[in-house]
Amino acid sequence: MKKEELIEKAKEARKLSYSPYSHFAVGAALLCKDGRVFVGANVENSSYPLCMCAERNALYNAKMNGVKKEDMVALALSADTDEPCSPCGACRQVISELFPKDAPIYMSNLKGDIKETNIEELLPYAFSEEDLR
Ligand code: THU
Repeated sequence: MKKEELIEKAKEARKLSYSPYSHFAVGAALLCKDGRVFVGANVENSSYPLCMCAERNALYNAKMNGVKKEDMVALALSADTDEPCSPCGACRQVISELFPKDAPIYMSNLKGDIKETNIEELLPYAFSEEDLR
């Protein structure tokens, strides 16, 4: 699947966002080796700290469908931002644990700007299970 197609899936997922408080809708789509795509959108709550981001929902969706880290190929996210939307710090930490280090992450916006990166660039020197030993 081309990155543009995966980004389109993230934009579609964004339409499912429940964001009545921030009015900031985000969509994410995670591609697997077998071609399956798991999506997520941000889901907010009147108790603000309970809000969940699109990227984590997509990752947890994949996990709950039995997808292993090594079977994850790429992650796309999209929002209505000037620059390609960047994952928040909490999502970076979760991505660093559940998603392959060198797999592409496509940050995008609705205008069609795309920035390709990976979690090592987004979260260098990440805290990990190694630190707990
Ligand atoms: N949000 C995401 O879903 N992903 C990000 O990477 C940035 C922030 C959500 C959380 C909240 O629902 C809204 O966007 C505003 O922060």
